[in-house]
Amino acid sequence: MKKIKLKVPATVANLVCGFDILGMAVHEPYDEMEFRLLDTPDIIIKHTDAFGLPEEPSGNVAGIVLLKIQEYFNLKTGFEVIIHKHIKPGSGLGSSAASAAGAAFGANLLLGNKLTKEEMVHFAMFGEELASGVRHADNIAPCIYGGITLVKSTNPIDIIPLSCPDLFATAVHPQVEVKTSDARQILKKNITLKSAVEQWGNIAGLIAGIQKNDISLIGRSLNDVIIEPIRSILIPKFDDIKEMCLQLGALGGGISGSGPSIFMLSEQKETAEKIAQMMKSVYDKIEIESFVYVSKINPAGIQIIEEK
Ligand code: HSE
Repeated sequence: MKKIKLKVPATVANLVCGFDILGMAVHEPYDEMEFRLLDTPDIIIKHTDAFGLPEEPSGNVAGIVLLKIQEYFNLKTGFEVIIHKHIKPGSGLGSSAASAAGAAFGANLLLGNKLTKEEMVHFAMFGEELASGVRHADNIAPCIYGGITLVKSTNPIDIIPLSCPDLFATAVHPQVEVKTSDARQILKKNITLKSAVEQWGNIAGLIAGIQKNDISLIGRSLNDVIIEPIRSILIPKFDDIKEMCLQLGALGGGISGSGPSIFMLSEQKETAEKIAQMMKSVYDKIEIESFVYVSKINPAGIQIIEEK
């Protein structure tokens, strides 16, 4: 195999209460990445989008992952990658993780499946580190494994793929800037035992709900008493939108990753679409441009759409 094209999905990290450990893949939005194996040891990155992301391999999220893989296998060959990015950088929908995970996945296919999923996560984390300064895998893991994943640990890498409930996700991306590094900086370094007890009750409840397909338990557990109260201040109309989503029948939701996107889970497509319309109209009213996405949880993660 010399050439492949991948569809690389957006991901929702944290899933409200599982800061840095839980994540979920969705179908929309997604990036497309085309890979070609080169006879020379070059790493060539090209973007067809207008986001102005760096193309120098060591400064590019996909490029750094490919450099690390090339170094690890001591390759005399290289890669060309053309990235069609539709997941907007800085959206909180796993844009950098898509490039990083896509790079590890694509390189692995071209090299004849030499890497395990854990190893792909290991290499992809170099991309996340470049993007945000932190080696977190809560976006990368669901991108590579699909569905919902628990990152039990990143050192050693221990990823637990969870069940994938048949639910719809709505996400809104208001066009305000929230840098992941800033959204991490503002968090408290210490928390009270009382908050910790509440939070691990929610995380355990959420995982039990997902594994048992207990939709009501999932809804009751989508509650974050530690991160959301601090970060939500950075997102215009967060509290109003969340309340209206619940009134419209959402199971629950919150900040997607480090924001500014907000996501909600619903049982019915109609509810998910009503929520999308409401989210958009709230931002239209205050003249903030926004993009909305409705899709099911994506059980597959990255998919091969072409191979030659
Ligand atoms: N878990 C990370 C955070 C995700 O919330 O900072 C960032 O994309």
